[in-house]
Amino acid sequence: MLARVTTFAIHGVESRRVTVEVDLRAGLPAFTIVGLGDRAVREARERVRAAVLNSGFEFPARRITVNLAPAYLRKEGPGFDLAIACGLLAASGQLPPEPLERTGVYGELALGGELRPCRGALAVAEGACDLGLGALVLPQVLVEEAALVGDLEVHGAGDLVEVAAIVRGERPGTRPAPGGVGAGGATVAGGPDLADVRGHREPLRALVVAAAGGHNLLLAGPPGTGKTMLARRLPSILPPLTRQEAVEVTRIQSVAGLRLAGGLAPERPCRAPHHTISASGLVGGGSVPSPGEATLAHHGVLFLDELAEFTRPALEALRQPLEDGRVAIVRGQRTAVYPSRFMLVASTNPCPCGHFGSRRCRCTDGDVQRYRRRLSGPLLDRIDLLVDVGRPAPEDFAGGPVARSADERERVAAARERAAARLAGTGLACNAQMDAATARRTVVLDDRGATVLRRAYDRGTLSPRGHDRVLRVARTIADLAASETVTAEHLLEALSFRQDAEGNRDEDVA
Ligand SMILES: Nc1ncnc2c1ncn2[C@@H]1O[C@H](COP(=O)(O)OP(=O)(O)OP(=O)(O)O)[C@@H](O)[C@H]1O
Ligand SMILES: [Mg+2]
Repeated sequence: MLARVTTFAIHGVESRRVTVEVDLRAGLPAFTIVGLGDRAVREARERVRAAVLNSGFEFPARRITVNLAPAYLRKEGPGFDLAIACGLLAASGQLPPEPLERTGVYGELALGGELRPCRGALAVAEGACDLGLGALVLPQVLVEEAALVGDLEVHGAGDLVEVAAIVRGERPGTRPAPGGVGAGGATVAGGPDLADVRGHREPLRALVVAAAGGHNLLLAGPPGTGKTMLARRLPSILPPLTRQEAVEVTRIQSVAGLRLAGGLAPERPCRAPHHTISASGLVGGGSVPSPGEATLAHHGVLFLDELAEFTRPALEALRQPLEDGRVAIVRGQRTAVYPSRFMLVASTNPCPCGHFGSRRCRCTDGDVQRYRRRLSGPLLDRIDLLVDVGRPAPEDFAGGPVARSADERERVAAARERAAARLAGTGLACNAQMDAATARRTVVLDDRGATVLRRAYDRGTLSPRGHDRVLRVARTIADLAASETVTAEHLLEALSFRQDAEGNRDEDVA
């Protein structure tokens, strides 16, 4: 007797159909699983056997062969348990086989027959929907996530007995109302607030400009001046996720195993990996490809504290996600693609001891140069805003806050709306994503603005690359001022954000 059940394997952040074929024959009792499964798949035999028996079903004393097709696709993890168990029950006449041909099943089994959640429920539900399957059965805790996919009847079950009842049609499925499960658009509640920062008028302004345009930002300065403090407050002023963005973030977090229950991700991710992280930890990889920090920060912030301490290979690996907004990982004949469009925020000291320029600095010239050389290269090219974070003045600590997150968040949202309206149809979401041609086309300078820019360029104080960066940042500053034209004032402010970690203006860096 042969039975077929549809389930899914996770590949990148998507799912691929896997057909579980179960064949029962007369012969010495045996239980074999073939089809390029990893160790967790091979161990499914023990879980399935115990779960079937402990749920009151009969375990067929036959020669059992399970094939996971297609055979060329590598199968990882315990998510195939439920499909194997259902196939076994159908092949042995304990479940009707027809409904299983129209239903996807996905979940891990405990020895007692209970269902355990596994990674990637949203991707699996999307796969089931694309295949035109009528329904999907999975662990109860994953229902909210799977139901984010509109056109699919999602059945949650607590254990194998409940799954059998659903397959036999004894229990109706639950189809949540469309859009009823978390419609997205939540704002970040709580979290650290900009109001905690004293002084730092210019760095705070840079933070707002970065948030409004999605620009990458580097904060440079001596130890203890609040660089980390500033960076950690950036998510508090970013606009809320759109529904589409929230779905993408949820899909990634689910595939990475960061969320095994609940609906839409409520807020933009902020990832702050330690500087000892490897290149594959940062951009993803491993023999079983898994998403890296760059992907976990998709639609959010990737914060690299103490940038110069990261290894060169790790920083080099960031080049692709920064350029393309995605990471492609090739393993054998397969390529897994992970989206990774994030805002990069980095902090650094100006020299190894951090006190460069003051009498306290103990570094030799060689030390300083070696330290700075680590920062140069592909990364700095991608940073639009370079900001010096000096020591706040003593009177700053006596004064009140310079900015509050709630106010700035509103201004950022308004500026982003202006930019989005202008960029509608281009596929770009914010000013930082504009290439040189788009920047030159969409940035309308007034006469004085054009003069300021030409002078800066003529003086040789601005490279061609710097020229385009300044245009992008100036565009964002004008958006914050609700101005369609970019004036000399906006350009001058944009030029002021060109100070790099070494105190050089753009001309020396480029
Ligand atoms: N401008 C400021 N306003 C209020 N508190 C501040 C400010 N600057 C620093 N602090 C206080 O000092 C602490 C240390 O700041 P932070 O860790 O952000 O410094 P840093 O610049 O990242 O230093 P390092 O270079 O050593 O990493 C903060 O947690 C905060 O309490
Ligand atoms: Mg710090």
